[in-house]
This record gives sequence, C-alpha cells and structure tokens, in this order.
Amino acid sequence: MEIAPEHQPFIIAIDGPAGSGKTTTAKALAKELGFIYVDTGAMYRAVALFAQRRKVLFTDHDAICALLPDVDIRLERKDGEQHTLLNGKDVETHIRTQEMSRAASDISAIPCVREAMVDLQRRAAREAHGAVLEGRDIGTVVFPDSPCKIFLVADAPTRARRRKLQLEEKGISADYDTILREIEERDRNDAGREHSPLRKATDAIEVETTNTSIDEQVSMILSLVQRRIDQFRKGHTE
Ligand code: DC
Repeated sequence: MEIAPEHQPFIIAIDGPAGSGKTTTAKALAKELGFIYVDTGAMYRAVALFAQRRKVLFTDHDAICALLPDVDIRLERKDGEQHTLLNGKDVETHIRTQEMSRAASDISAIPCVREAMVDLQRRAAREAHGAVLEGRDIGTVVFPDSPCKIFLVADAPTRARRRKLQLEEKGISADYDTILREIEERDRNDAGREHSPLRKATDAIEVETTNTSIDEQVSMILSLVQRRIDQFRKGHTE
C-alpha cells in the first residue's frame, strides 16, 4: 500500500564531516520540532565496537559481514539524551572514544555494513511523523528524496578546536594536534571511500559554520528548516 505524501514522515537530512556541528544542530531541530533524532554515526560505532569485542580485524570484510546477524542496535532516549544499545546493553560511553571514531570510519566503508545500517536508519525514521537524521550519506543515499537537506562545513582547525572543547567538557584531556590529525584522516577516509562517500547532495543547502557560534548556527538552520516545512505542507494542501 502506498502512503500518501502528506502522511509520510518529514525527513531532515543533516550531513557533514566530523566536528561540523551536526549533533548539536540535529538535536536542537528535533527538540524544537518534536521530531525523532537519529544519530547514524552511533550505529557504525556500535558495529565497530562489536567487531573489536569479537577480536575481528576491521580490514577483514568477510568476517565483519558474518558478524552482522548477531548485532542488534537500538537507539533509545533516556533523560533527554540518546543512548545506543548494542544487543540490549548501553554502550554510549564505549562508542565515543577516539579509537572507535577511527574504527567506525574504517568499518563504514564496507558495503554489507552500509546496507544493514541504511536499512535500520530507514526503518527508524519511518516509524515517526518527522525525523532528523545526521550522518554522511543521509541526503545522498538514505533519504535522497528528503525535502530538507543541510550540508554543514567548517575548516578542520575549527572542527578540531570544537572537538577538543567537547572532550574537555566530558573531563577527557585531549591534545589539539592529535585531534586535528585524526579529523583530517577521517575526512580523507569518509570522503574518499568507494561506497556512499561523504559528499553534498546536489539539492542540499550548504551552511558554512567556521565563523559562526553554535547558537547562531542552530537558529539560522531552524528558520531555514521551518520555511522548508511550511513550503512542503503548503504544497500538499493546495
Ligand atoms: O558521526 P560520527 O563521527 O559518529 O561517525 C563515525 C563514523 O561513521 C564516520 O567517520 C563515518 C561513519 N558514518 C558513515 O559512514 N555514514 C553515516 N551516515 C554516519 C557515520
């Protein structure tokens, strides 16, 4: 049975490189609009953690694909925060390490992993009346028909400074040069892979945030999204 367009969930796609402000923006939009928030990077991180725990090399694609039937990933909200559950256990803190950032980037280049995660992401979003998804390929692959695509960019030093601050806020001391190097490596990895590389969808709105505070960024994107939603609803009622 076909679902009429006005009854389909409104999907907001937020893509961009590491540290571009996707999470803060996506969470704020979801809260403001009453939509669900889906952090797709957390799913790749959870698969990477599972592989590490099973002592499977991230380069062994066949072994990683063979693990997938044993991986159950759920995203749940607890006290207003998203928690990632891997086979029923909360792994939120375990997946946020620098090691898992790199591992998730490596593992996300494997086609069978992408297929399984994209399927999960589509199912999660379709259960809601509206969803904000953040990732690398939401506007290009997961929901190419989304009426509202945002592509965030900022230069690497700015993103490294933001990441350092975020880590310090969590009580984790971090070296700026190391973070910058990791961000640049991850950019190359995510944008250079063969399957679903990080790139701007042709119809995405690019928002450059290097010289913008996060509050300015959020309120600017919110009004932009609000206009899109109004246009979309008007289009379906005329
Ligand atoms: O957004 P993040 O830093 O948590 O993502 C971790 C890695 O997962 C990222 O470096 C690339 C991969 N990823 C992806 O390939 N596609 C997505 N939609 C989200 C993340």
